[in-house]
Amino acid sequence: MTTQERERETAGRGRVEGVRTVFSGIQPSGDVQLGNYIGAIKGWVDRQEEKENYFCIVDLHALTVPQDPEELRFQTRSLAAMLFAAGLDPEKCTIFVQSHVTAHAEACWLLNCVTPIGWLERMTQYKSKAENQETISTGLLDYPVLMAGDILLYDAHEVPVGEDQRQHVELARDIAQRFNRIYGDTFVVPEGVIPEIGGRVMGLNDPSVKMSKSHAHIRGHAVRMLDDPKEIERSIKRAVTDNGNEIRFSDDPERAGVNNLLGIFKVLTGLDEAAVEAEFANARGYGDLKSRVAEVVIDALTPIRQRHEELMQDVDALDRLLEVGAERAEAVAGPKLDAVKELMGLTLTKR
Ligand code: TYM
Repeated sequence: MTTQERERETAGRGRVEGVRTVFSGIQPSGDVQLGNYIGAIKGWVDRQEEKENYFCIVDLHALTVPQDPEELRFQTRSLAAMLFAAGLDPEKCTIFVQSHVTAHAEACWLLNCVTPIGWLERMTQYKSKAENQETISTGLLDYPVLMAGDILLYDAHEVPVGEDQRQHVELARDIAQRFNRIYGDTFVVPEGVIPEIGGRVMGLNDPSVKMSKSHAHIRGHAVRMLDDPKEIERSIKRAVTDNGNEIRFSDDPERAGVNNLLGIFKVLTGLDEAAVEAEFANARGYGDLKSRVAEVVIDALTPIRQRHEELMQDVDALDRLLEVGAERAEAVAGPKLDAVKELMGLTLTKR
């Protein structure tokens, strides 16, 4: 499709008939960990053939908490390399950095003006992040509006994310609906796509909290995507379980550690629950479970780590890929933003 055709398709409402658009994002802050992979990246890779895909490295979101500028620059490239290394194909997906497409920041402002502040103050992630900050930036409160802008600029139908982002996607739906009510049918109302198993990978050291990038530096909390096999094995061997010996899926909070390890095994092997349990029918306790889980995690992550290292050798090539991604994203987001501005009365001459 030419850029002009694309502009026509996307500037107002509606896309190419029948093609579903997928948008998702990930922050370049801290170490990407297994939860990010299982809850999000793996699904993006597995389903990239089917749809029109946009995957965004959300550096503006990362700024909502303090960042070292050089570190942020490094993490942004490293995350791009990670997404390519994990198997996202630049021919099939548009992969770009959020701040390279200025429409995102502008859309955030426009949507701020139709979003009641109470909606933001209710967000659970805001409340828990704000608790740990001495000074809370306005950006931290506004974070979900920026995220809504990301999604709505592309008229995304589907937003594949982990469970922790469910509330933010719901908010993006609410904002889209409110905007459509005020200004007329403008945005596609997006749907969150959350994996049933793997949508919430828990911390290995504490299976009552989710595995997170911001805790990934704590020993034994996470498997980081770039950990070597020895480190992976060490973290999984140390994982908290319980004092039973039954290797079965379970909702019992007491058994969350074993359930978490089985969930990781299930997603990475692609087996169903019954087959996973059958795999461990003759296991000799949790030691066996941990060894097998470590094995499948190492098998999944080793090629990604190696490819990441190769890609990081040539940052110019990476930057060029990101430039192409930004151009393609801009061709969709730019005209959509213009249409929104016109609807809101910001362009003096109507088209
Ligand atoms: P971020 O960078 O925190 O996480 C990236 C993705 O990884 C998922 N995830 C997990 N999934 C399962 N188990 C876990 N322990 C786990 N930890 C993280 C997250 O749910 C997410 O899907 N606000 C978003 C980024 C964003 C975005 C967007 C996403 C910005 N704009 C637009 C979708 C659409 C975030 O901070 O993700």
